[in-house]
Amino acid sequence: MSEQSVITPAADAKPNTRKVFVKTYGCQMNVYDSERMTDALSKDGYQATDVLEDADLVLLNTCHIREKAAEKVYSELGRLREMKKARAKDGREMVIGVTGCVAQAEGKEILRRAPAVDLVVGPQTYHRLPEMVARVARAAGTVVETDFPVEAKFDHLPEAAAPQGITAFLTVQEGCDKFCSFCVVPYTRGAEFSRPAAAVIAEAKRLAAQGAREITLLGQNVNAYHGEGPDGAVWGLGRLLRALAEIPDLARLRYTTSHPRDVDDALVAAHRDLPQLMPFLHLPVQSGSDRMLRAMNRGHGAAEYRRLADRLRAARPDLALSSDFIVGHPGETAEDHRASLDLIRAVGFAQAFSFKYSPRPGTPAAGAPGQVAEAEKEARLAELQALLREQQDGFNRSRLGMEFPVLFTGPGRHPGQIAGRSPWLQPVHVQDAPAALIGRVAPVRVLAAHPNSLSAALADPRAAAPGSPYHSPHHEPDANPEEEERARA
Ligand code: 5AD
Ligand code: SF4
Repeated sequence: MSEQSVITPAADAKPNTRKVFVKTYGCQMNVYDSERMTDALSKDGYQATDVLEDADLVLLNTCHIREKAAEKVYSELGRLREMKKARAKDGREMVIGVTGCVAQAEGKEILRRAPAVDLVVGPQTYHRLPEMVARVARAAGTVVETDFPVEAKFDHLPEAAAPQGITAFLTVQEGCDKFCSFCVVPYTRGAEFSRPAAAVIAEAKRLAAQGAREITLLGQNVNAYHGEGPDGAVWGLGRLLRALAEIPDLARLRYTTSHPRDVDDALVAAHRDLPQLMPFLHLPVQSGSDRMLRAMNRGHGAAEYRRLADRLRAARPDLALSSDFIVGHPGETAEDHRASLDLIRAVGFAQAFSFKYSPRPGTPAAGAPGQVAEAEKEARLAELQALLREQQDGFNRSRLGMEFPVLFTGPGRHPGQIAGRSPWLQPVHVQDAPAALIGRVAPVRVLAAHPNSLSAALADPRAAAPGSPYHSPHHEPDANPEEEERARA
């Protein structure tokens, strides 16, 4: 889970309006929410800025998943407090808001620890953000809004105003009912909620019309998706993906983050049948020890995860897996740790995130006996990460000489270079390729594998030629280049 700062330009902002600076921490769901908040505020005349000093309104859209993420927010608030004071001396106001999961989890505690904050808004009430900002601006005091309202925030948030680009994110599901022992999400994001399929399909069509070629469906537990279908039936994620695969301009579909227990036959079948569904799946397992999996309340064992990986690979033989691991969950012994290493060796991961267990207040594991010493956690994490690193390097090297389609998303770092993503989400750079390929899928051959990216050349000379069918936005290929490549693989 990487920290990022994303600034979304407001599409219809008026000149000389107030400015909003949004800093986003944590997951893609937060990036998506930040964009929707900026859109909502733009209707009230707020224009997005990436210059903090210019901002009349600063929003920190926060993450609470691990302690470090929450503490980062408090130190940023310390810096903002000084800035707010300096601005006040010049007679200018700066409204500071905390949104996201820290806001939800800590509520009024934020105002106590960081009195410069004017506004605390949980993830379920973003549609009321403009009204809350107005209340603060009217000097009505601070506002804390962290209720879980019955109505869905999606019904109130404006439709995506600013085009997201060639790769776009679309939230289909929020919240989680799984209550893993270590996790704050069920408390910060609330109960599982799925958007109706028709709303998702409409948003996907709009994104495609704005130029998106790839959509990643988002949800804290995305494959728990059970939205109302246009036919009145409950649709699972597999059914939804099938409907989205019918949108002609969408070359690629992905979804994240999944829970092993919610992978059903329909989802496996979607991996088998839909060429648009990319063969790369983030499927966190957290541990390879049955004892730990039970303590974590994951609802499955290590052998079940291995069987699931086999089923998915049988359906889509080129599928690669990514995962999350936690070391040092309360009660974890050296033997449990070895079981995690064994599972990693047995399954093989193209990529993975791993974390030291971090106690989150209010979660069952935080108060559980058998807390693991910090030094032990460090040592286990280092060992696990070395193995995962080796596997990632091996996976990247295994692509050497291979041909596969790349969706080009922009220019590369060097002149004449363009960059995109492999089906397995690896960044790919191609030298001396026409910029007309940006936004298109074309086959490449891998020339070199690096730890975090691949260098490649165009594999089809037609892709480089002026007037190539690969470049034309309305080209109905004799075969979709993506499909063609898959058939060849
Ligand atoms: N401590 C460490 N890692 C955690 N994660 C979630 N909660 C904790 C915690 N308390 C990790 C899990 C999850 C990922 C998003 O963050 O691995 O899959
Ligand atoms: Fe947290 Fe994921 Fe477990 Fe839900 S399934 S409680 S989001 S770790």
